[in-house]
Amino acid sequence: PLEAFIGIFNVIFFSFSEKLLVLTVATEETDGFLRFMRSADYFNYTVKVLGMGEAWKGGDVGRSIGGGQKVRLLKNAMEALADQEDLVVLSVDSYDLIFAGGPEEILRKFQQANHKVLFAAEGLVWPDKQLADKYPLVRTGKRYLNSGGIIGYAPYINRIVSQWNLHDNDDDQLFYTKIYLDPLQRESLNMTLDHKCQIFQNLNGAVDEVLLKFGTDRVRVRNTAYDSLPVVVHGNGNTKMYLNYLANYVPNAWNYEHGCSHCDDDVVDFSQLKVGEYPNVLVGVFIEQPTPFLPEFFQRLLTLDYPKDKLKLFVHNNEVYHEKHIQRFWEENRNVFNSFKVVGPEENLSQGEARNMAMDLCRQDATCDYYFSIDSDVMLTNRQTLKLLIEQNRKIIGPLVTRHGKLWSNFWGALSLDGYYARSEDYVDIVQRKRVGVWNIPYMAHVYLVKGSALRNELKERNYFVLEKLDPDMALCRNAREMGVFMYITNRHEFGRLISTANYNISHYNNDLWQIFENPVDWKEKYIHSNYTRIFTENYLEQPCPDVFWFPVFSEKACDELVEEMEHYGSWSGGKHQDKRIAGGYETVPTDDIHMKQIGFEKEWLHFIREFISPVTLKVFSGYYTKGYAIMNFVVKYTPERQAYLRPHHDSSTFTINIALNNKGIDFQGGGCRFHRYNCTIESPRKGWSFMHPGRLTHLHEGLPTTGGTRYIAVSFIDP
Ligand SMILES: *[C@@H]1O[C@H](CO)[C@@H](O)[C@H](O)[C@H]1NC(C)=O
Ligand SMILES: *[C@@H]1O[C@H](CO)[C@@H](O)[C@H](O)[C@H]1NC(C)=O
Ligand SMILES: *[C@@H]1O[C@H](CO)[C@@H](O)[C@H](O)[C@H]1NC(C)=O
Ligand SMILES: *[C@@H]1O[C@H](CO)[C@@H](O)[C@H](O)[C@H]1NC(C)=O
Ligand SMILES: *[C@@H]1O[C@H](CO)[C@@H](O)[C@H](O)[C@H]1NC(C)=O
Ligand SMILES: *[C@@H]1O[C@H](CO)[C@@H](O)[C@H](O)[C@H]1NC(C)=O
Repeated sequence: PLEAFIGIFNVIFFSFSEKLLVLTVATEETDGFLRFMRSADYFNYTVKVLGMGEAWKGGDVGRSIGGGQKVRLLKNAMEALADQEDLVVLSVDSYDLIFAGGPEEILRKFQQANHKVLFAAEGLVWPDKQLADKYPLVRTGKRYLNSGGIIGYAPYINRIVSQWNLHDNDDDQLFYTKIYLDPLQRESLNMTLDHKCQIFQNLNGAVDEVLLKFGTDRVRVRNTAYDSLPVVVHGNGNTKMYLNYLANYVPNAWNYEHGCSHCDDDVVDFSQLKVGEYPNVLVGVFIEQPTPFLPEFFQRLLTLDYPKDKLKLFVHNNEVYHEKHIQRFWEENRNVFNSFKVVGPEENLSQGEARNMAMDLCRQDATCDYYFSIDSDVMLTNRQTLKLLIEQNRKIIGPLVTRHGKLWSNFWGALSLDGYYARSEDYVDIVQRKRVGVWNIPYMAHVYLVKGSALRNELKERNYFVLEKLDPDMALCRNAREMGVFMYITNRHEFGRLISTANYNISHYNNDLWQIFENPVDWKEKYIHSNYTRIFTENYLEQPCPDVFWFPVFSEKACDELVEEMEHYGSWSGGKHQDKRIAGGYETVPTDDIHMKQIGFEKEWLHFIREFISPVTLKVFSGYYTKGYAIMNFVVKYTPERQAYLRPHHDSSTFTINIALNNKGIDFQGGGCRFHRYNCTIESPRKGWSFMHPGRLTHLHEGLPTTGGTRYIAVSFIDP
């Protein structure tokens, strides 16, 4: 396994008498290793990988001492190179390291350093703080040795590593430090440190010193303390996530001119697949709190452009309130999917347990190619989402979804020291899609896709969602980070939005009607007629009588749910003149009605008038602007048994809207409205369409008799 040469052999640097060979130790092809190799290949480095496939016995280097195995492997490899005097060897880590420049630059800077061996330097002394005083003083620059990067002539490197006789889990950095701190060796081996980060940038303790420097083709890291452009960037210590951020750009991953350069690498090509060969996906749906627009959520799942027989559905529902919605969806669609399993509130599973259970279903099923986790507050508006995510071919990837009009999203660009939210420099640009690509990030939630193979390898532990007191997604992300699995968010497309579950009052009958403030986009989509906007774009409205305008405003659902809400409330006024609900207590032209106020819908209704009726008045009454002030807002019920018609009258309004809530000929017979002055009758109201007409003087009108069934209308007297 030591002979695994990866990279390009035939590159020899003709402009130099010396050759550069990169040696790195990696026992596994982690995501970090593959990223390292990509950056090396991009610059045509010759890389020899040591130890691939070997068991790692070097300890947990991230948290404690260790790493001796690296020296042993390097020692073995150097024996064969010991007498190549013109060979410059660069020994670097790979899991947490990238190249920002090419081999010529390294060789040039190495020559300028005028030493036989150069170690990376850092500002923190590790692992033995007591050795700090033994280091030579430096006036400016980093004083202490870091063994993540070493460059030197092969015979000299060999003379150093051949001294190794310790164990695999002994500390490599301590070993090199002791040699370096020995004045005799330091001189005879002609060693120094790269104090000013000409070649090596260790990020630990230096995050504040570095910036991205965008060029036309390449992006570099600039060290602002020494005004240098380091070539090797190392996320040592707890700076792995910062390196991930830098590597979203460096060396050529993304720049302003060309955008994302690697987004189309290694993609899964669906055009090469027959539909029957599409990957199998287990979809885990999590309803952990009362969630507005849940039926719409399920409809969007159903309309994903993906063969349903390739989808297995697992639903965790924690809310008794939603059982009716799930029941309905299940009855209609249980045979649509390959399988459909629901775990309800009676199981009393914690969120973490439910997420573990779903993920496990995929992990333990060798035919499960992907696990797609989606929370009920994610409205996927892009039907291609699943395919687009699979195409990117990552172990973990989520689609960017954001709260409408806000900077709130389903990922974090950085973490604070205690592991919570911190804003990365590029966060806003990614959320607003000013920078488009596939981004390596430390935290995501709500919706993501995980490869089944990753669940059976790197992520094979079965309890990722429960960790200390972290919320389940934070636990998953921390586990993934610790396993070295990169998590990506893609904003290459619009995928959808996050809805708000805050302030969701489920004590009404049709609770989504009340969501006009909290989730205005979803409210509009559900409740406003799909041809409403054509009023403004195509003059899509009618004028059946003079100054009586007729336009679509409510969807079928809005009409049905409003009627249901009123019937659920049930206290119709009975059409009496005595009416305690109004000022004065007397109504001259009473209807059999329920006021919006009575069902607690007044605020929402007035907002609806401002948002959706005012623009129409502005259009049809040439510039009449209403602030939507209205005291009388109500639903009227006409039936032959109770009140069938309304005698001619004026309204106490500047103008009136009158929205038909059901269908003539289906729900009722008769009905309609007659305007006397113009002897004009509209006999066939259309469900969801509103009349709008002046209330007084010119527009004396009457409600024509309903001869069968029940007719409902919603009425507002606006600007009384
Ligand atoms: C790497 O080598 C290829 C093929 O020889 C060449 O096209 C490319 O420009 C080289 N890359 C760099 C960064 O020098
Ligand atoms: C190190 O080697 C260079 C030549 O490669 C030489 O010029 C320099 O004086 C040496 N430095 C020390 C401290 O020996
Ligand atoms: C549900 O689980 C919680 C915590 O695990 C426990 O405190 C509670 O008693 C359980 N409720 C029922 C009905 O089993
Ligand atoms: C929810 O709505 C009911 C009925 O309108 C109301 O009584 C209650 O105060 C509301 N709850 C909250 C938290 O707003
Ligand atoms: C919108 O208008 C088109 C024709 O202009 C019609 O076919 C469609 O049914 C209308 N949509 C609704 C919801 O009525
Ligand atoms: C009103 O119109 C109807 C039918 O359009 C007609 O029969 C009737 O005579 C008209 N009445 C008046 C007063 O013009």
